[in-house]
Amino acid sequence: MDKSLHFNTQLVHAGANPDNEYGALSTPLYQTSTFAFDNCEQGGRRFAGEEQGYIYTRLANPTVTQLEQRMAALEKMEAAAATSTGMAAVSGVLMAMLSQGDHLIASNAVYGCTFALLSEQFPRYGIEVTFVDMANHDEIEAAKRDNTKAIFLETPVNPNLAVYDLTFIGNFAKQHAILSIVDNTFLTPYLQQPQEFGIDIVLHSATKYLNGHGDVVAGIICGSEEHITQIKHTTLKDIGGTMSPFDAWLILRGLKTLAVRMERHCDNAEQVAQWLEAHEGVKTVYYPGLVSHAGHRFIGSQMRGAGGVIAFELNGDLDTAKSFADSLKLFKVAVSLGDAESLIQHPASMTHSTYSPEARNDAGISDNLLRISVGLEQVEDLINDLDQAMIRTMD
Ligand SMILES: Cc1ncc(COP(=O)(O)O)c(C=O)c1O
Repeated sequence: MDKSLHFNTQLVHAGANPDNEYGALSTPLYQTSTFAFDNCEQGGRRFAGEEQGYIYTRLANPTVTQLEQRMAALEKMEAAAATSTGMAAVSGVLMAMLSQGDHLIASNAVYGCTFALLSEQFPRYGIEVTFVDMANHDEIEAAKRDNTKAIFLETPVNPNLAVYDLTFIGNFAKQHAILSIVDNTFLTPYLQQPQEFGIDIVLHSATKYLNGHGDVVAGIICGSEEHITQIKHTTLKDIGGTMSPFDAWLILRGLKTLAVRMERHCDNAEQVAQWLEAHEGVKTVYYPGLVSHAGHRFIGSQMRGAGGVIAFELNGDLDTAKSFADSLKLFKVAVSLGDAESLIQHPASMTHSTYSPEARNDAGISDNLLRISVGLEQVEDLINDLDQAMIRTMD
C-alpha cells in the first residue's frame, strides 16, 4: 500500500485483499479453522517458518490479516495483532511483555476491567503495579524503579475523560528505556495517533468506534514488527486470544466509515456537552471539547478532536443521577460506547464497580458520575431527550 495515501483512503483500501482469483471487492470471509497443506513436507516447512502460508486460524487467517494490515497502516505502525476482545488486547500486550518480578506504572484511572486485571490478577503472577495520577509528572518519575518495564495509560480516560500528555509519556519511556503502551479506544487513529509522540504500542477495544455498530467484541494491538511477533507468539499462539474471521470481516466493513462516523460523533458530542454545561441542573461536564476542560489545550496538538464520550455530574445525589438515566428514552442504559445508538451508564455501579470506593475517589470517578456515548442520531432529538429527562428528574 502506498503510504503517501491519505488516512481516509487507507480506511477503505489499506491491507492486501486476499482474493486474487475472482476480484472480489469486499474482503472474502475465510471462515475456516484450518488450512490444508499439499503434503506433510509442506506442513513441516510452515511450522518451521521456512515457508510462508497459513496453518491454523488461532495463528493467522487471511481475513484477519487484512484487518491487521489496515490497522497498522492507520496507526502508522509496522504491524498489528487482532484479538478476541479489547481485554484480550490489554492482557495480551502486558502478558507478552512482562514477567514475574517486573514492575508496571499504570494510570490510576482506566477502564474498570483493566484496573481489575492490574490490581487483582497481576499480583497473582508476581507483577507489581504502581498506580499514579498521570497528570502529575513528578508522581510518574517517583514511581520509576529499577525493575520498571512499562508504562500504561488511556487518554482520554474511561470514564472521566481526563487527558494526559503523550509527549511527556513518550519521552519519559524513552529516557528510561521502558515500553510505553496507550489504549487509544476513545479517539481511534482518526483523532489521535500516539506513535507520533514516541509511544511504542497502541491498543484498542475494537468493540467500540473501530467496528462502530455494536455487533462485535474485539481488540487490536499495533506496534513494531518485533513487538507484534512476540505478542502473537504469546497471546495468540499460546494463550489463544485470537479474533474470529467473521469479527475481522465486520470490523473491516465498519472501518470504511470511521472518518464520517467520528466526524458526526464529535459534532453531536460537542453540541450535547455545550447544552449540558449551560443547564442549571448540571454540576460539572467532563468533555475535552469544552474550553473549560483541562484537556482542551491538547486539541490540535495531540488530538484532532474530542470524540463522542462525555461524563457529567448532576446537581443532586446518586438517586438523582440514576433517575435521570432511567428517564431517558432515546439514550439506552447500556455499557459500551462508539455505537450508532446513544448510550448512558453509571460507572460507579457498572463499568468501574471493580474499583473500591477509595480507589475510585483517587481516580476522580465520583459516585454521581454518568457517562454517555453520543451516537449518530440527529442531535436535536438527543438534546430533546436529555431535556425531557432533566425536567422529569428535577421536578
Ligand atoms: C478504554 C477501554 N479499553 C478496553 C476495553 C475492553 O474492551 P472489550 O470490552 O472489547 O474487552 C474497554 C471496554 O469498555 C474500554 O473502554
